[in-house]
Amino acid sequence: MAKTLRNYVCQSCGSAFPKWAGKCEACGAWNSIVEEPTGGGDVPKGLSGKRGKGVTFVALDGDVPQTIRRATGMAEFDRVTGGGLVRGSAVLIGGDPGIGKSTLMLQVVTTLRGIRAAYISGEEAVEQVQLRARRLGLGPDGSTPSAKTPEGEVQTELAAATSLRDIMASLDRPDAPQVVVIDSIQTLYLDSLDSAPGTVAQVRTCSAELIRLAKSRGFTLLLVGHVTKEGQIAGPRVLEHMVDTVLYFEGERGHHFRILRSVKNRFGPANEIGVFEMTDRGLAEVPNPSALFLAERHGNISGVSVFAGIEGTRPVLVEVQALVSPSPLATPRRAVVGWDSARLAMTLAVLETRCGLGLAGSEVYLNIAGGLRITEPAADLSVALALISSLSDRPVPSDLIAFGEIGLSGEVRMVTQAETRLKEAAKLGFKRAILPKRLSQPSGKKLKVEGLELIEIGHLQEMIDWLYNEVRSNALQATVTASRQQHAGDKPR
Ligand code: TYD
Ligand code: MG
Repeated sequence: MAKTLRNYVCQSCGSAFPKWAGKCEACGAWNSIVEEPTGGGDVPKGLSGKRGKGVTFVALDGDVPQTIRRATGMAEFDRVTGGGLVRGSAVLIGGDPGIGKSTLMLQVVTTLRGIRAAYISGEEAVEQVQLRARRLGLGPDGSTPSAKTPEGEVQTELAAATSLRDIMASLDRPDAPQVVVIDSIQTLYLDSLDSAPGTVAQVRTCSAELIRLAKSRGFTLLLVGHVTKEGQIAGPRVLEHMVDTVLYFEGERGHHFRILRSVKNRFGPANEIGVFEMTDRGLAEVPNPSALFLAERHGNISGVSVFAGIEGTRPVLVEVQALVSPSPLATPRRAVVGWDSARLAMTLAVLETRCGLGLAGSEVYLNIAGGLRITEPAADLSVALALISSLSDRPVPSDLIAFGEIGLSGEVRMVTQAETRLKEAAKLGFKRAILPKRLSQPSGKKLKVEGLELIEIGHLQEMIDWLYNEVRSNALQATVTASRQQHAGDKPR
């Protein structure tokens, strides 16, 4: 029988198949299978009698060589990477096209002090990169690209190249740069492979070669990768497993700030974020994100609440905006930006069923101000607060923050790091906080934060009652009563 060559590779998940199909059986993606002459490889042959060399084992508690980190001098970037770039490691920076990856990388390599860096662009010509650097104030007068290290070498080397062979040849030398940026991995190609740049085979081979070289020469490799609209690094998810650190650069296009998030980090905490503001002089670091997210608050508007969230290890206060409006449609619209639509549906159902608020016939829009994406269930309570406020057309008191997870019976559950959240709120001048009851600290002592009145609730209904007492809103009372009666009327007897 003829040997089967498995050379049809899914560009979405990297699975290999012996023949073409319209749908990938492994990940379910349509029209993602592409023939790759050398991508898949043969069916494994086994060890076939040849002996290997044997590996050396050491004790788990043996001596550990110190990880050598190179701080970039960009505090937010260093925070996300866990303290700087690790020697011989590979970092993947993913993000949508146009989000600012190239700008970020250019700023990182030019802020490095006393470290030789190379920026290799496969997308822009050298002049374009130089012009950009000049426009961002990273030019010769700004003491960077042409700055010299103490040994008198040029600090940032710039090149435009796409051939892996050429790039490898220029990096495989004893005086290789200490930090290398490849912008982007999808533009590189190896001429011995027949597939086009950006395919799984090319991206995988080029990355593997570069990572191997980075380990042997001890430089830090920063790979820029574009993300597809499904939110994956284009084509090769395989890449995420090959590198040591995966960072995502995200943000809404219409908004002026960007978040660098670590989703995997072998040398530091994952899920850490760095916040940047986009300016015409490049990316500016934002050491206090809460102040930025709350900067455009307008007082006394209904449907707005403030959520005290945690992103990575630091607290971030954001504004949750909700709009509840009557709908002529049989199936009213529900639209969410920046939060999970399934969690919104759940919160709505709980408000409807457990608290008797009439939301079923209304359109509901929810937005996290500023374009931040929140994934924490702790935002439930703030979302509910914004919804109630919009429904009753009464503003939430402006000195109030809220956090807590809502359970299906309407109970409010405790969340992690309550004290950190509360302290951040107090620091930003908030006076009151609605939070889950029975929030005993692990040490057993009662939660107390100076300058902050804590309103502890066990059920969602308690929050509605509290809000009614607070704003003395007839509208709220009327809404609640009316919806309760309606709800009672709906019930089968
Ligand atoms: P760019 O870095 O090229 O995005 P990517 O490499 O992710 O595709 O940035 C896109 C555009 O935005 C570019 O024209 C420069 C501009 N820009 C600014 O003007 N200021 C900034 O702070 C950033 C990040 C980008
Ligand atoms: Mg770019």
